[in-house]
Amino acid sequence: IRKVAILTSGGDAPGLNGVIRAFVKSAVLEHGWDVVGIEDGFEGLVGTPRLRPLGLKEVRGLLGRGGTILGSTNKGNFGWHKNADGELVRNDAAYQEFVANAKAEGIDAVVVLGGEGSQSIAHDLGNFGLPVVGVPKTIDNDLVGTDQTFGFDTAIGVATDALDRLHTTAESHDRVMVLEVMGRHAGWIALHAGLAGGVDAILIPEIPFDLRALAHKIGERDAFGSSFSIIIVAEGAMPAGGEAIYQREGLLGGIGYYVANQLAELTGKDTRAVVLGHIQRGGSPTPIDRILASRYGVGAVWAISQGRFGQLVAIQNDQLITVPLLECANKIKPVPVDGQMVRTGRSLGIVFGDEEQ
Ligand code: F6P
Repeated sequence: IRKVAILTSGGDAPGLNGVIRAFVKSAVLEHGWDVVGIEDGFEGLVGTPRLRPLGLKEVRGLLGRGGTILGSTNKGNFGWHKNADGELVRNDAAYQEFVANAKAEGIDAVVVLGGEGSQSIAHDLGNFGLPVVGVPKTIDNDLVGTDQTFGFDTAIGVATDALDRLHTTAESHDRVMVLEVMGRHAGWIALHAGLAGGVDAILIPEIPFDLRALAHKIGERDAFGSSFSIIIVAEGAMPAGGEAIYQREGLLGGIGYYVANQLAELTGKDTRAVVLGHIQRGGSPTPIDRILASRYGVGAVWAISQGRFGQLVAIQNDQLITVPLLECANKIKPVPVDGQMVRTGRSLGIVFGDEEQ
């Protein structure tokens, strides 16, 4: 190995720059490898290569900086798309071009920082003859294979801060406040921030909700003298037996408003919805995410040095390991509905409803 490359793909997450920094430092200091950054995700090696040499100077001051200095794109040329006959097809030419460009640039291995979709692309690039190592990335914490992704802790912190702020204004106005947080497929952020923020109800995709039960609880709180309530809802949550119609592609900020409208009708209370959105993904990573980012970055160098290609760098039970990319590609790790976190929520009376059948 003489030259390695790194790219960031899909939605950003606080800590991406920390991974880049740690990867470059470890590659240079421990092995003397040359490192280049591929700009704008996989697109950076399509057409004229957009590469950026990364040395110790280039990664100075990156640990606490949000976003990604390399830029990112969502799938683009590399996603599956429908052809004229409506069949799902892959643009193999883009994959071949990526690999040919990487080889022409003398790149011996590529590290892909991405979520489940990007790791599927990474795996396929391996089939086209490119040595690839994956690093798990999502604020949603729903990637299979690793215990915690970087960015998740930052997102929980942002959501918890929002809940604290909503509490004081909800209390002043005797309102029901609904906070919609990210989590398209899994309720990790809603569950953790909900517990940290002391909410009155947590609604997650893994446990379809019944708003009549929640309205009843709000009524009980009123009777008890707590005439405000705070609800946190993951964007992918859905009613029991219902369809997730508000998740239709292109429909922005759906479920929070749906829940707020329904609760207003059922309780007669003044109700507001807040969609936290990309604030959860922006800004400086927390100390935990900086440390995780550093471990994943160093881990990617270790994985390359061990020849563990086609693998994802993962942390399980505090151990740095690798797992096959295929084990995490296009898969989701749901919140365990019988896990200790959910049981804690149930004991506190803020998680209710049956788990998904
Ligand atoms: O997967 C990460 C995530 O932040 C999801 O929670 C959210 O649904 C999605 O990305 C938003 O993506 P975009 O940046 O494309 O709006």
